[in-house]
Amino acid sequence: MTLELDHALDPDDVSTNPSRGPSFNDVVERRASRRVVLAGGMAGAAAFLTSNLVGAPRALANSASRVSAAELLGFSPIPLGYSDEIVVPPGYTARAFVPWGTPLTGSYPEFVPGGNSAAEQEQQVGMHHDGMHYYPMQPGGKGNKRGLLVLNHEYTDEGYLQTGTSTVPPKSTWTPEMVAKSQAAHGVSVIDVQEEAPGEWAVVRSPLNRRITANTPMTFSGPAAGHRLLRTTVDAAGRFPLGTINNCSHGVTPWNTYLTCEENFNGYFRVDPGTYTAEQQELTSRYGVGGDRNNWATHDPRFVVTSSEPNEPNRFGWVVEIDPFDAGSRPVKRTALGRVKHESAYVHVTKGGRVVVYTGDDQVNEHVYKFVSHDNWQSARARGRSPLDDGILYVAVFNDDGSGEWLPLTYGQRGLVAANGFADQGDVLVKTRQAASTVGATRMDRPEWVSVDPHTDMVYLTLTNNTSSAKVMSAANPRTPNPSGHIIRWREKGNDHTATSFEWDLFLLAGQGRSSGDGSTIADEDAFSSPDGIWSDADGRVWIQTDGTQPLGANDQMLAANPYASDADGTPEIRRFLTGVLGCEVTGVVTTPDQRTMFVNIQHPGDVKPSQWPHMDGLTTPRSATVVVTKDDGGVIGS
Ligand code: FEO
Ligand code: CA
Ligand code: CA
Repeated sequence: MTLELDHALDPDDVSTNPSRGPSFNDVVERRASRRVVLAGGMAGAAAFLTSNLVGAPRALANSASRVSAAELLGFSPIPLGYSDEIVVPPGYTARAFVPWGTPLTGSYPEFVPGGNSAAEQEQQVGMHHDGMHYYPMQPGGKGNKRGLLVLNHEYTDEGYLQTGTSTVPPKSTWTPEMVAKSQAAHGVSVIDVQEEAPGEWAVVRSPLNRRITANTPMTFSGPAAGHRLLRTTVDAAGRFPLGTINNCSHGVTPWNTYLTCEENFNGYFRVDPGTYTAEQQELTSRYGVGGDRNNWATHDPRFVVTSSEPNEPNRFGWVVEIDPFDAGSRPVKRTALGRVKHESAYVHVTKGGRVVVYTGDDQVNEHVYKFVSHDNWQSARARGRSPLDDGILYVAVFNDDGSGEWLPLTYGQRGLVAANGFADQGDVLVKTRQAASTVGATRMDRPEWVSVDPHTDMVYLTLTNNTSSAKVMSAANPRTPNPSGHIIRWREKGNDHTATSFEWDLFLLAGQGRSSGDGSTIADEDAFSSPDGIWSDADGRVWIQTDGTQPLGANDQMLAANPYASDADGTPEIRRFLTGVLGCEVTGVVTTPDQRTMFVNIQHPGDVKPSQWPHMDGLTTPRSATVVVTKDDGGVIGS
């Protein structure tokens, strides 16, 4: 989500990590000077590390890839954007699709800005599109024309939602119906879509269409299911949570389910005065619970925290698994993946069939995690077990010498014992942030999305920015302050994603460009800030999406990087592919399997800057929407 608007409501640029550790400043200097010795300066060091870490993309030549590494990016880059239209390169077309309010289920109610009821919103596409995947519904070529588009709705702009304008009604006028409407605009949409003409897609009126909201019945699974910290008066068993909120990035399993990540859930609760235990106080402060965002607590007691009913916030902050092909299925909160402000649940399958899920915790000074399943996913499922319920959750340490370690968050190990507040694995998982601090994880500059290169197996992670005075500097987070963010990458030892050590490198430091003096390592013409979404397509193009203040006051954008090509200074080849509209962020990207249709999400147009996008049906209310991008010659997107 965007930084500017949410400073007060959702201070993810404020650290709630109180743990103290050694200052990294002198270590950073040592590493920097070592780089100078090794490779003649910072830029040379980048090239040195690049050559050692990446090498040639080993699989590109013998894969089904259509392009050589050198020719990965075939489009003409576009300039920074300032308009209220989506801009893509010459030879490409972008069309808005499934905006907030699109009729989706039930009686398919028409969108009326500010005029739909809560019940109608529940039958329409939600607000603020984010992470997304396309599931082909048929094998072969037909799967490129018909599929399930599954997308997150991260949060709401209550002015546009409730009134159709930027004016948010005063809190004193808030009604239960307004809370219900807001809750119905959150969650996830499953949309049956098909291509009717080249580049022109439509919603199919299908029994698979589904809205999952803040009130959809769900199940807890994994080691923390039924834990004392998940129990409430309504659900004494601690096994049946209600709803998912703040669904940011996502993941896709090899068994064709969708993982949606609960990010900034904390702000929706009101914490009432009372006599709280030390554990309750720590859970509240470390996760930043409080704020009564969107006035939900005003009319929904579930979002009121009291000393006698303190556990509802603990029922959020999970990765939730949804089966998009079964509209009656109950989503499952997979507790083995930990409880943080999840951003991304990127699933990588090892050669042995184990699933590895990479996830970031998007707040300043928080951490990066991976879950490794115990078993081959097929054999686990054959036994009736979810591969996501049995495994080890690790947290990352990025050493200043370029090495890294994955530390297990396992009860009984590394201080995760009763004396430190961890009496069982459920405690470790509900209090994942505290567990990570206990084992000594590296504090990062707001970890967002993760992607794994399909040819080199390198893992890429965006670190969106960190301007907090509490920032902890390290070689992996080298700029203080860091308003523009960076992208880090690593290679697991032996390219085995179950390994417990890795080698890391800085892929790029974002900003105005090398000549600007802001420490960025990209070309001036590629200027961008605050990388957030990241996705490696089948050919290896790294699609980078931004969320935050852009260089020269430009709109948020999406660029493509060629991870196999850089100049002598280590500057990667990057081309700007898409520029967003006024006030939006660009987040969520996927293509059809043939890579000839790309879906990109445009979130919160009109936030901070007035917008009327997508200008559909003569309406002027800005609406988050998916953009369908095609190449006019029918070619592969980005080629
Ligand atoms: Fe929802 Fe961290 O962006
Ligand atoms: Ca962001
Ligand atoms: Ca994001």
